[in-house]
Amino acid sequence: MTKTFHFQQPPTILSIDTSCDETSVAVTQSHTVLSNIIASQTQLHQPYGGVFPTVAKQAHKENIDPAINAALKRAKVTWDRINAIAVTQGPGLAPALEVGIKKAIQIAKQRTIPIIAVNHIEGHVLSPLVEPNKRKPTKENSHKSITFPILSVIVSGGHTQFILIERIGSYRILGTTIDDAAGEALDKVGRMLDLGYPAGPVIEEFAKLGSAKKYSFPLPMTSSGDFNLSFSGLKTFSRRLIEKKTLLDTSSKQIIFDFCASFQYAVFRHICHKLNKVLQDHQNITQVWLGGGVAANIKFREMVRQTVKQFVKNNPHQPRQKIPTQPIASNKHTNPAIRIPYTKKVCGDNAAMIGIVAYYKYQKNEFVKNQDALDRKPKWDI
Ligand code: KG4
Ligand code: ZN
Repeated sequence: MTKTFHFQQPPTILSIDTSCDETSVAVTQSHTVLSNIIASQTQLHQPYGGVFPTVAKQAHKENIDPAINAALKRAKVTWDRINAIAVTQGPGLAPALEVGIKKAIQIAKQRTIPIIAVNHIEGHVLSPLVEPNKRKPTKENSHKSITFPILSVIVSGGHTQFILIERIGSYRILGTTIDDAAGEALDKVGRMLDLGYPAGPVIEEFAKLGSAKKYSFPLPMTSSGDFNLSFSGLKTFSRRLIEKKTLLDTSSKQIIFDFCASFQYAVFRHICHKLNKVLQDHQNITQVWLGGGVAANIKFREMVRQTVKQFVKNNPHQPRQKIPTQPIASNKHTNPAIRIPYTKKVCGDNAAMIGIVAYYKYQKNEFVKNQDALDRKPKWDI
């Protein structure tokens, strides 16, 4: 009789994320991505200038099975190797979340596999830990060498938050946007200029051809005394400029480029101003991690790097010897105090980051007890 022994192998987890407009399925082992499939719906939502929930739900329904099959195939694993199914429970669009959750329940029952329910924001927070398949674990990139507390800066289309990671699984929101998220503001202003959806990447490209000094935007919430953010003032300021054609002639390409550079700079300057404040007030922070779609922006990374560098230099209490990890970003000129997802694909919505959270929950046996009762949590703080 043959018997299979499972030596301390990390669990193989299949993760599903259908929180917004990407149907994503990943297979991960510990921090390593074996596959990370993303079926994007952005084309479908283009005409609406944002995500249309019922269209998203329908597209998720159509994409989910092909995405699961593709994830297994690319990872070269069969169902008998899958130890758990992780699924995003929230926050996100309720009709979209429902598709992923229903599918997870269906598979779990059919194949008697446990389910792990994951918070999407926690996924973004731990996204810098996602490792490509070929990377060998070294002391540098081993998660064992992480020193806490770490500050996570989440900048996406739905959230803009400063989150203190006290340890994995224990988080404290230090600051949050009181109105739009940064990505949302970029998308809304992009819509005023007919830049398509999502506008963030287009604004980044246009900004490279323009001058950030051309238009001076206000710096929001300078005297708030807290770490919260607000982007609606920058949006209103933009609308005024755009509507008053004498100020901003939208028929000129160069003017649009200058505007994009100035607006993007204003958004990032606001985040970095507050980031500076957080770091000044929490001098024991050892690293800053970036996550969320906007973290793909090179200018944003540069500005964060500058801010963190100043802090490290100015802060005599900083335990430099404990800064453990080199960033995994492709850019070599990085600051050791910053950690960024290893590829832009992992900045935006993807299921690999859900797999990282699930790996830690698996170790603590945090499985869904009653699978039938698993329901969406469209609004769910980390
Ligand atoms: O994390 P994500 O994929 O979805 C949410 O959870 O919201 O973030 C999407 C947001 C969109 O607002 C998009 O415009 C923005 O990220 N984004 C960017 C870039 N790539 C995506 N913003 C600025 N520069 C980029 N390169
Ligand atoms: Zn997201």
